[in-house]
Amino acid sequence: MINSIILGVGSKLPSKCLTNDCLAKMVDTSDEWIVQRTGIRQRYVLEPGQVISALAAEAAKTAISNAGISAHEIDLIIVATTTPEKTFPSTAALVQEKLGTGNCAAAFDINAVCSGFVYALSIADSFIKTGQSQYALVIGCDAMSKIVDWNDRSTCVLFGDGAGAMVLGAKRFDTDESEKVGVVAARLFCDGKLSKILETSGGTSTTCNSGVIVMNGREVFKRSIEKMSMAVQMVLSKAGLATDQIDVLIPHQANARILNAVAERLGLDKSKMIDTVGDFANTSAATIPIAWDYGLKKGIIRKNQNIVLTAMGGGVTWGAAVIRV
Ligand code: COA
Repeated sequence: MINSIILGVGSKLPSKCLTNDCLAKMVDTSDEWIVQRTGIRQRYVLEPGQVISALAAEAAKTAISNAGISAHEIDLIIVATTTPEKTFPSTAALVQEKLGTGNCAAAFDINAVCSGFVYALSIADSFIKTGQSQYALVIGCDAMSKIVDWNDRSTCVLFGDGAGAMVLGAKRFDTDESEKVGVVAARLFCDGKLSKILETSGGTSTTCNSGVIVMNGREVFKRSIEKMSMAVQMVLSKAGLATDQIDVLIPHQANARILNAVAERLGLDKSKMIDTVGDFANTSAATIPIAWDYGLKKGIIRKNQNIVLTAMGGGVTWGAAVIRV
């Protein structure tokens, strides 16, 4: 049987850092309020003229180098983003050009907002398991600073920009099941009836622009906890694992209070959860691969662990995946 294994990970943040004190000069807020309600201390945002495909390509180059392969071996690029550089071509095509991979088999974007990375990972896993890809590059990147309303203090404090990338490779496991690593299971969900709780005020085919983020914060808060914990339970059941077999949980980094509530609901020790929201804020589709990269660098993610990813975002979309490393 062919499985998708994680070969390399990389991430890239813009150099411009916006602290809570910087924001307090722009809107009526304070470092104390933001830290208490969200755990966020700072976020990174694109400099004028900087483009998201450049950030994504930097993250991808690191992931490819860590995977020990050449960019030319990549035959699939999936970019999860809600803030594409252009309406078309896709950000994936722009990343492909920057990597100089040549004619890779397929390159496309997907939009599942903050759940985008889990969706993209699951799609890449399917391509690999069905023999359509040998080496897949999965990227989560977003420039949320371009779609927040900088006059709305209830949303502008939450988001940041960033990119994270992961290289998946096909590996055949014929005999010893116990040695099997890679993507074990994934579950994806969407409930369009909830679309109004987190949306943009426009779009290319209506207002001819992206619009800005409009959010019912309390409702999103409640649903995030409910959906992410439910998705983890469902994916664990699909994988045949119990909660105490989770070694590392990487939830979408929306708000420290949401993360803690998810861990509590699952009965999981918070020390098993990666929390980068204080340093990088919510970078939408990029939070999970950025947090994975952080976990590797800090020695939190090691061999023979069960890593569980979960996310919830606009749509409303949500999902989870179990990966054995
Ligand atoms: N600074 C200071 N005060 C603020 C503020 C800010 N940045 N943002 C909102 N407030 C005010 C509100 O205006 C309100 O004032 P009022 O009582 O005078 O009307 C007060 O704080 C309480 O607002 P409320 O919305 O009830 O706060 P909250 O405790 O629910 O926290 C969020 C607000 C946005 C932090 C919280 O709802 C949240 O995190 N939701 C999820 C958001 C999210 O993660 N979105 C992305 C998901 S992918």
